Amino acid sequence: MRKNIRIKMTAAILMAAVTVCTITSCGKKQAADADNQMEVPIQTSKEATADQESENREQSTENMQTKVESENAVGVSTKGYTIEKIDGVTYVNGIMIVNKTYPLPSSYNPGGLSGQVLDAFAEMQADAAAAGLNIWIQSSFRTYEYQDYLYNMYVSTDGKAAADTYSARPGFSEHQSGLCFDLNSIDDSFTNTPEGRWVDANAHKYGFIIRFPLGKEDITGYKYESWHLRYVGEEIATYMYNNNMCLEEYLGVTSQYEN
Ligand code: DAL
Ligand code: ZN
Repeated sequence: MRKNIRIKMTAAILMAAVTVCTITSCGKKQAADADNQMEVPIQTSKEATADQESENREQSTENMQTKVESENAVGVSTKGYTIEKIDGVTYVNGIMIVNKTYPLPSSYNPGGLSGQVLDAFAEMQADAAAAGLNIWIQSSFRTYEYQDYLYNMYVSTDGKAAADTYSARPGFSEHQSGLCFDLNSIDDSFTNTPEGRWVDANAHKYGFIIRFPLGKEDITGYKYESWHLRYVGEEIATYMYNNNMCLEEYLGVTSQYEN
């Protein structure tokens, strides 16, 4: 009898141990499953819709904020950027635009190239020199009055229609902004010089764009000018370079005289 009791007790202890062990490992498995579920959460369509609605609400609030943030807003570009006019100067998404659609006031006069433009040019010039190339600024900031003189000189020699393809009317030249300049020889011969080719391939790294690119004449309103660089900052210049865009395409604006 005693032996039987001992056997029964041993069996009971063993069963209890197995049960405890099973519960423990089962507990671990449940925890592992729970971890897995946390990694791949299953969302109901209702929850997804609620999340989307909340996201949409946040986005539309953001958009509203962007639109009402600027009391200088005069419109929205085809790319959805806010167009602002501040003291007669137009900015699209914060970038100054000067072209046949958007002139500068005749009184706009920053007095020369901006410090940021000069610094970026100095860096580009030094790197070009290290590559054995010589680039220099031939024409930089121009006043309204000087552009008036230049444009009318071209009109008197070539006629208005021709002049409008390569020279801006006074008030419509980016040279009045202090954000652009012409390099070296200011004519088509620059394009295929070692300097012209280097500038074409590298200017974006310093924040510059070829402002009137080849093949974009109908959009910019001007003939190709391989020598005319405009500063927009490295990020935008690189994006435009990689996507073969001119500034009007990037911003979603036109360049056309009213008459
Ligand atoms: N050559 C450019 C278009 C200007 O006159 O500003
Ligand atoms: Zn120029």
